[in-house]
Amino acid sequence: MGKRKPVENFATDFDHTDAAWVADPYAIWDDLRERCPVAHTERYGGAWLPVRHADVAAVAYDTDHFTSRSVVMSEARPGPHDLPAPIGLAPPITSDPPFHALARRMLLPAFSPKAVGAYEPYTRRLCAELLDAVCGASEVDASLDFARHIPLRVIVRMLGFPEEDADVFRSFITGVLEDVDDSAEERVARADEAVMEHYMDERIAEHLAEPRDDLTSFLLAAELDGQELHPDHVRGTMVLLLIAGIDTTWSAIGSSLWHLATHPADRRRLLDEPGLMDTAVEELLRAYAPVTMARLVAKDVELDGRRLKEGDWLLLPFPAANRDPEVFPDADRVVLDRRVNRHAAFGLGIHRCLGSNLARMELRVALEEWLARFPDFELADPGRVTWSAGQIRGPRVLPLRVVTR
Ligand code: HEM
Repeated sequence: MGKRKPVENFATDFDHTDAAWVADPYAIWDDLRERCPVAHTERYGGAWLPVRHADVAAVAYDTDHFTSRSVVMSEARPGPHDLPAPIGLAPPITSDPPFHALARRMLLPAFSPKAVGAYEPYTRRLCAELLDAVCGASEVDASLDFARHIPLRVIVRMLGFPEEDADVFRSFITGVLEDVDDSAEERVARADEAVMEHYMDERIAEHLAEPRDDLTSFLLAAELDGQELHPDHVRGTMVLLLIAGIDTTWSAIGSSLWHLATHPADRRRLLDEPGLMDTAVEELLRAYAPVTMARLVAKDVELDGRRLKEGDWLLLPFPAANRDPEVFPDADRVVLDRRVNRHAAFGLGIHRCLGSNLARMELRVALEEWLARFPDFELADPGRVTWSAGQIRGPRVLPLRVVTR
């Protein structure tokens, strides 16, 4: 955040890293939905922003006119030859049809409810350990001391990497998702990608020498059209699983705890009616959906009266779609027992989140364990809470005053 000039008009000059957007994107989307459903900016070399559910869905389902070749909008716009289509850098999220379906189908068994359920006892133990470590404190940072460790440690375990390596990934992921102001040269100079590739190659070599019962060996044994996966594909998917699952779920857990800290009636209701947990998880995902994706326009196309040109960026704000009152009555209010809730937090169309069973399990277990340990909590100081900038939204510093049971 902060390298660019402040935005004065989000309809004609939007920037998702602007301080006003980071502080409260919902007011901006509500305003744009009223007066300009598809906003534009010359920043990032030219980009579009639909905010209505119908427009977000139209783009997400239209893989002819919008490519996933790059899904993080930055100054470093890829050229047609930078990333080999249709596989892309991190299949399947950066793959287009028809290759996408093959790359996705191969991964599905590893993220089925049953496969993910096997990690629930570990996730619960991990949450309990994290809470033990802060036991007795009157103030706990729910983001830094709790939420951020959960998805990272779970995916590291699923991939079969050494637990102590968890920290290696943190700066790499932040680099990819949050330092979007950096130029192509700055990103190359940081060399995070090269470090990561080297790390993955070492883990791949270890697993080839000694196969194990984990996700890395699963990928190495997988076949696509009767052929082993290309090593670039295996590495790209491993990197994707780290990137896709960590900041996203960290954000969802953090935002949910922020909501419960600032809405005591909802916190008490969830404690009194634990049977509401499943609908509450869906509603918190809807209201605080953390993930906005990007697309590149593959062919000139019209969207809600605007002419989009090949090569333009487009931000796909699933969180804005989730707040559209045309689809969700009382969209800006959290209703823990909302009955009909076909939210778009996990995306729409062919790229719909592959890790949604895992994310839901982690969010539910994290909330259950937190509430069991700390039924009473509130913001220690609203002025110290910070939120991430970029396409993944969640609290990064979240000090809570807690009363230990
Ligand atoms: C609350 C947490 C999460 C949210 C909100 C979320 C959201 C999303 C969204 C919106 C997409 C669609 C991307 C697009 O349209 O371009 C997506 C795709 C994906 N997510 Fe998640 N995600 C979460 C957690 C996870 C986890 C834990 C994993 C696995 C470790 C994961 C793996 C993936 C993968 C592999 C894709 C690409 C699927 C494809 O391209 O077919 N996600 N996610």
